[in-house]
Amino acid sequence: MSTGPTTAGIQGKIVVITGASSGLGEAAARLLSAQGAAVVLGARRIDRLRSLADELTASGAKALALQTDVTHFDQVKKLVDAASLAFGRIDVMINNAGLMPSSPLDRLKIDDWNQMIDVNIKGVLYGIAAALPYMKRQKSGHVINVSSVAGHKVRAGGVVYAATKHAVRVISEGFRQEVKPYNIRTTIISPGAVDTELPNSVTDADVAAGMRKVYEIAVPADSFARAVAFAMSQPDDVDVNEILFRPTAQEY
Ligand SMILES: NC(=O)c1ccc[n+]([C@@H]2O[C@H](COP(=O)([O-])OP(=O)(O)OC[C@H]3O[C@@H](n4cnc5c(N)ncnc54)[C@H](OP(=O)(O)O)[C@@H]3O)[C@@H](O)[C@H]2O)c1
Repeated sequence: MSTGPTTAGIQGKIVVITGASSGLGEAAARLLSAQGAAVVLGARRIDRLRSLADELTASGAKALALQTDVTHFDQVKKLVDAASLAFGRIDVMINNAGLMPSSPLDRLKIDDWNQMIDVNIKGVLYGIAAALPYMKRQKSGHVINVSSVAGHKVRAGGVVYAATKHAVRVISEGFRQEVKPYNIRTTIISPGAVDTELPNSVTDADVAAGMRKVYEIAVPADSFARAVAFAMSQPDDVDVNEILFRPTAQEY
C-alpha cells in the first residue's frame, strides 16, 4: 500500500508513462504513485527508471521500469504488454516522451527534425497503437497526450517542434472522436515553460542560450503532475479533453 494520500480516480489505476526518466514524466509518476496508482515507467535511460521504480516500490507503491525507445513500436508495445501482464489491465496511457532540439529552418538540421517527428509524433501514435487494443477490450481507458503551448502557437526558431506539438493535438482530437464506442477518455495537456531537462535537447549554442532565458520563469514539474491528476480524478462520465497552463509570468 502507498503511504501517500489517495485520491478517487487515481487509487488502484494502472498507469503507463513514457519519458518517465526525468521532468514531467517523473513528476507524474511520483504524484500518481503517492496517490495509489501503479506506475509502469518507460524511457531509454534505464538506470534512472530503475532507481525511480525502486524508490517508489520501497515506499509501498507498485512500480515497474522498462527500457523503452518510443521510436520503436515493438518496444512501446512491450511496455504496455508488461503493464497488462503485471497488473491485469491498463487504465491510463501517458504519451509524454518528447524533445525540443529547435533551430531556425535555414540551418537545415534535418537529423533534429527527424528526431522530433519520430519521438514527438510517431512516439505518441505508437503509444496509442499499443494501448488501444487493451482499452477497446476493457471498454475503458484514458489516453493523455503531452502537447505544449507550442501546440497552439508557432514562433520563429521553433517551427518543427511546434509542428510536432500541433500534430499531437490534431491526433488527440481525432482519436477522441473515434474512440467514443469504447468509452475511452482523452486529454491533451499543453504546458508552458516547466523546469525540466527539455532545454538540454537544444543542439545549437545560441538557441540554447535564448532558451535558458525563456526558462528563467519556468515552474516546477509538479504543475504538470497536478494537471494529470485533475484529469484522471474526474468522475468516469467527465472527459477533460484539454488543459493549457503556463507560468503566470510567461508572455508567449
Ligand atoms: N518542460 C517544458 O517546458 C515543456 C513544455 C511543453 C511541453 N513539454 C513536453 O513535455 C514532455 C516531457 O518533456 P520534459 O519537459 O519532461 O523534458 P525532459 O526532462 O527532457 O524529459 C523528456 C523525457 O522524454 C524521454 N525521451 C526522449 N526521447 C525518447 C525516446 N526516443 N524514447 C523514450 N523516451 C524518450 C526522456 O527519457 P530518455 O532520455 O531516458 O529516453 C525523458 O524521460 C515532452 O513531450 C515535451 O515536449 C515540456
